Amino acid sequence: CLPMKPLSRPELFDFEGVSMVHYFTDNWEKVKNFQARPDDILIATYPKAGTTWVSYILDLLYFPIYMRVPFLESCFNLIPSGTELADNLPTSPRLIKTHLPVQLVPKSFWEQNSKIVYVARNAKDNAVSYFHFDRMNMVQPEPGDWNTFLQKFMEGKNVFGPWYDHVSGWWEKKQTYSNLLYMFYEDLVEDTGRELEHLCSFLGLSTPVQEREKITKGVQFDAMKQNKMTNYSTIPVMDFKISPFMRKGKVGDWKNHFTVAQNEQFDEVYKQKMKNTTVKFRTEI
Ligand code: A3P
Repeated sequence: CLPMKPLSRPELFDFEGVSMVHYFTDNWEKVKNFQARPDDILIATYPKAGTTWVSYILDLLYFPIYMRVPFLESCFNLIPSGTELADNLPTSPRLIKTHLPVQLVPKSFWEQNSKIVYVARNAKDNAVSYFHFDRMNMVQPEPGDWNTFLQKFMEGKNVFGPWYDHVSGWWEKKQTYSNLLYMFYEDLVEDTGRELEHLCSFLGLSTPVQEREKITKGVQFDAMKQNKMTNYSTIPVMDFKISPFMRKGKVGDWKNHFTVAQNEQFDEVYKQKMKNTTVKFRTEI
């Protein structure tokens, strides 16, 4: 991470076959050799699928609010890199987040058999959310207008590569790696309490019902939007005048963005790109 380089919108480039920006590859040697521990919990997602939501839920299950969840591959000069933060986390388990596609995850996580919570969100809402995020986040590439962004999304020209490969790659991994819980954003919106119960049983936590109910309430969209610890309002690279980080938190907001023609084109591309995977999404609930 170059200490004096000013933060600016980066260019996409090919990195081991995945579109990336330098903020997530500058620290690559350390990311690659990052030492996972058997009790680590890795939160893995495609950007904008509900990372913050599930990080916060896990945080509330394990730690007081002031403990952080480092972003493993991040390397901004404003704060210590993800690997540095993770290396210095005093907690056990450590909560670490990543947007890396499955093939780029440091191998020690597999060697250590760490628990992994993957969150996936339907492609249409994920694309809309990613578009607004790229508009307001000055360390993401310039998204252009909605149609330009959507075309790029279908081509997989986003930071962290194609959504299609990400969700299906992690889905395949789940078939052979049993310490992976694959969650859906839509299920979380539909019934947060039920999903929290699944999460607790995956983690082997016997969190009492009362505590779980408190957490379920505390992680609802409005509560997290008001909370400075979770709404990202303290991060200087984000321009909330353009769009807030906690934007809508809905399933089906894509209907307010896609034209009929865009929707037809998207469905066609989707069918093609997802023909070899069994993972199924809901675009409304
Ligand atoms: P929208 O832009 O559709 O509102 P990530 O944390 O992976 O970047 O994902 C951000 C998306 O998750 C945003 O989606 C954000 O509003 C949504 N989100 C965060 N917390 C949420 C919650 N408690 N309930 C519903 N959606 C939430």
